[in-house]
Amino acid sequence: MATNRTFTMIKPHAVADNHIGGITAMIEAAGFRIVAMKKTQLSAAQAGKFYEVHKERPFYGELCEMMSSGPIVPMILEKENAVADFRALIGATNPANAEEGTIRKKYAKSMGENAIHGSDSDENAAIEGSFFFGAIEQY
Ligand code: TYD
Repeated sequence: MATNRTFTMIKPHAVADNHIGGITAMIEAAGFRIVAMKKTQLSAAQAGKFYEVHKERPFYGELCEMMSSGPIVPMILEKENAVADFRALIGATNPANAEEGTIRKKYAKSMGENAIHGSDSDENAAIEGSFFFGAIEQY
């Protein structure tokens, strides 16, 4: 059965462009509750660990460099059917294919700078959430 939590992070370019408020407003308006949130910055090695599943892909180096280029805002979110509903809210990986009303349609600049991450499964949501937050931070 689907759990009700997912994990997200606002990517460096969107933080640098002052879109934390705009993006979190869209998240809350869509019915998600912010369970945990902070502003932090990954080292290239930490970004590499987070995106390890992509390590054989051609874009891996660029992805790790971009994700460690400035502060990010990781969050754990709660809502019924959280993982699937959040993927729908963020829109397609390539913003050229993102639908109207999605976060990526509004804030993504390119495939690499696509504004926001969203977990793709309940299992990954739990792993990714615990990468950034300890148990006593998840309320
Ligand atoms: P992926 O997990 O496929 O997409 P999503 O973020 O929608 O779950 O890829 C992870 C990130 O890698 C993606 O957000 C942007 C980057 N990426 C590229 O830079 N180029 C690519 O061709 C792909 C597929 C992803």
